[in-house]
Amino acid sequence: MSRALKPVSAGSPAVILAAYQQGAATRLTLQNMETTNLGNLNGMGEFGPRPLDGATAIITGASRGIGRAIALRLASDGAHVVVNYRSNAEAAQATVSTIESHGGLATPLQGDVSSSEDVERLFDDAEKINGGVDILVANAGLVVLAPLGELDEADVDRMIATNLKGTFLVMRQAARRLRDGGRVIAISGEATRSAPAGFGAAAGTKAAVEAMAVALSKEVGPRRITVNSVLPGVTPPERITPQMQPHVDAVVAATPLGRAGTPHDIADVVGFLASDDARWITGQTIVATGGAV
Ligand SMILES: NC(=O)c1ccc[n+]([C@@H]2O[C@H](COP(=O)([O-])OP(=O)(O)OC[C@H]3O[C@@H](n4cnc5c(N)ncnc54)[C@H](OP(=O)(O)O)[C@@H]3O)[C@@H](O)[C@H]2O)c1
Repeated sequence: MSRALKPVSAGSPAVILAAYQQGAATRLTLQNMETTNLGNLNGMGEFGPRPLDGATAIITGASRGIGRAIALRLASDGAHVVVNYRSNAEAAQATVSTIESHGGLATPLQGDVSSSEDVERLFDDAEKINGGVDILVANAGLVVLAPLGELDEADVDRMIATNLKGTFLVMRQAARRLRDGGRVIAISGEATRSAPAGFGAAAGTKAAVEAMAVALSKEVGPRRITVNSVLPGVTPPERITPQMQPHVDAVVAATPLGRAGTPHDIADVVGFLASDDARWITGQTIVATGGAV
């Protein structure tokens, strides 16, 4: 991965806030992509090669939400992105089509991260694209919100299977198969710090993700592979529910930057960590919440 300058992002906070206030979720996503990533997707810029040209990146859970934004960002930086999904093939194909229509490289690959067979097949198929895998973004996640006294055991089992075991399975393959100098970026959540009411079990599974990332950073460091966790705060609007609205409102009120996060806010942090600029950062947790804690 070579170092290159990235075109300056557009899309001011005021514009983003106004779009949220109008409820223009879909337009906001496209607007952000077109103002922050479209220029990159058109190919080589005047500053030279893009940061991730020649790299292959697996992003788990990239059919929608934060994973989709990460796929757009890494594709705009030149990577061939594997758009992993579990069941929503249509959404994954839409992500791929968006990337391809702007000159980027993307392949949809189905696979349930909680299945060791699926994860092995995911890496097998990703390796066929360009002879190896350079970047893993362990993004697929499941959050069921309820006070601990009311949470179903089955929902806890599902969160453990997706968040904890699923992250272990993809990290295990990454440890065995990532090319030297690669990147592992795990998506956790700020709730591991603040543990709001209702987030207890979900935050517990995500705390395990962060612990595994630190251990993995020590295991693969000698091969110049960095491993870090990104901790988003509340990042609507793609899966906001009436149940979550009071929490979102409270978080926005307590956020110094005065709004909720967008998937692109998180994707840009991941883009940095995936680049050579972040070569000296490993075993860290990056909190991306607009200052809310
Ligand atoms: N949004 C937030 O406010 C927020 C805050 C903190 C942390 N996070 C974390 O950020 C990550 C992304 O969140 P999000 O809100 O963008 O998620 P989302 O919109 O619910 O999307 C989840 C993605 O993960 C995929 N997925 C779910 N289970 C899977 C499995 N077992 N195997 C493979 N793929 C699976 C889904 O695929 P299908 O489409 O096929 O179902 C989808 O692409 C998660 O780890 C989440 O915990 C989110």
